[in-house]
Amino acid sequence: MKAIQVGLLGLGTVGGGTLTVLRRNAEEIARRAGREICVTHAAVRNLDKAQALAGQGLVLTTDSFAVVNNPSIDIVVELIGGINPARELVMQAIANGKHVVTANKALIAKHGNEIFAAAQAMGVMVAFEAAVAGGIPVIKAIREGLAGNRIEWLCGIINGTCNFILSEMRDKGAAFADVLREAQAKGYAEADPTFDIEGIDAAHKLTILSAIAFGVPMQFDAAHIEGISKLAAEDIAFAEQLGYRIKLLGISKRHANGIELRVHPTLIPAKRLIANVEGVMNAVLVKGDAVGPTLYYGAGAGSEPTASAVVADLVDVTRLITADPHHRVPHLAFQPDQLSPLPVLPMVETETACYLRMRAMDRPGVLAEVTRILSEQGISIDAMIQKPCAEGENLANVVLLTHLAREGAVDVAIANIEALEAISGKVTRLRMESLA
Ligand code: NDP
Ligand code: HSE
Repeated sequence: MKAIQVGLLGLGTVGGGTLTVLRRNAEEIARRAGREICVTHAAVRNLDKAQALAGQGLVLTTDSFAVVNNPSIDIVVELIGGINPARELVMQAIANGKHVVTANKALIAKHGNEIFAAAQAMGVMVAFEAAVAGGIPVIKAIREGLAGNRIEWLCGIINGTCNFILSEMRDKGAAFADVLREAQAKGYAEADPTFDIEGIDAAHKLTILSAIAFGVPMQFDAAHIEGISKLAAEDIAFAEQLGYRIKLLGISKRHANGIELRVHPTLIPAKRLIANVEGVMNAVLVKGDAVGPTLYYGAGAGSEPTASAVVADLVDVTRLITADPHHRVPHLAFQPDQLSPLPVLPMVETETACYLRMRAMDRPGVLAEVTRILSEQGISIDAMIQKPCAEGENLANVVLLTHLAREGAVDVAIANIEALEAISGKVTRLRMESLA
């Protein structure tokens, strides 16, 4: 059978890894796909940089649209990143009747709805396994492996850069900026690393996961997003003392009136498996009504781990290329006319237990004022520790863990606590998940 011809857009960390894996495992891949998969064309910005990697038998160009418009190309693999020109290139590839594989979570989370509609109309596939959790086949697991379940919630460590930073800070006491630089050097970080550390990349991935888990459209703009850039080393240490680890989690839960869609640093009990996922590794916990909790673990970023997912998509698309479009797995797991209009719930309606840290005057009556404010909002305290602040300050760090409380009530309580004369500065609030 004629080889499938692939046009690669981008030969960076993931594009380079994809070319290497396709070449190294060509025989094994052809045995699986039923025919050879050959990269015949690749587009980059800097030809000199790409030449050594490309080698012989691959046409290199700086004109990505020439690749997308080339009639010999069957599948376009978009590994440029960002929204423009990636969006135009993907839409043009679809308009040309070509199948698309992409690792671009920003593009899918923000423009997936229009991309899938266009692909549906043209009868082509858009595969995006590499867009979430690097090499872990979690899209396939949710979309196909859990198809018999009503999925209730999912949560995950889905940004390798942040997990790497948090692990190195906790284990080695490393400085935030130094570890971020290392993550960039290893090719984990996004072109703009604020996407990683401010939680935006995790929110892109969470948006995609919630869409395929609950059968809802992409709703990235409604996500609640907090990153790790403001996380203090002392909160990591206090969490440890209380038996918790802090992880940047993406969390999505289904309720009767909507879904939660939130990314924030989260305290989880240190004894949970997911609390022990370290470095660039990712893990996604998915709770289905029939199967119960399931956990997916592996490398969340990096050249060949991500290439592994890109190549798996290429094999899938190759196998299904001649299938009737109606017999393929729907892009968002549910049939396109069966998507649910469930909205994203406002954050104030979310219920979580909380970690609250405040710097309080070390004198009688202060804690009584704080607990009175919490009790006025119906917030009950689960645990507390107090440690003196720096020498010479008559202040103590007071850390309170609450039972489940409504976000809106905690907002009011924090504002009232911060207004107390005996409290210095802002209250640090971190949310907790038991993941039981
Ligand atoms: P890199 O920056 O390493 O590579 C980007 C590649 O795209 C380079 O070869 C670059 O060429 C090329 N490129 C950029 N703009 C253009 C353009 N306008 N026309 C042609 N080529 C262009 O990025 P990554 O490989 O890290 O990321 C690619 C995608 O994969 C992103 O969407 C990212 O979010 C996603 N991803 C990345 C992971 C990772 O671990 N790095 C993991 C999972 C997903 P040149 O070098 O010549 O400038
Ligand atoms: N920047 C991303 C991360 C790459 O660190 O997880 C993988 O999507």
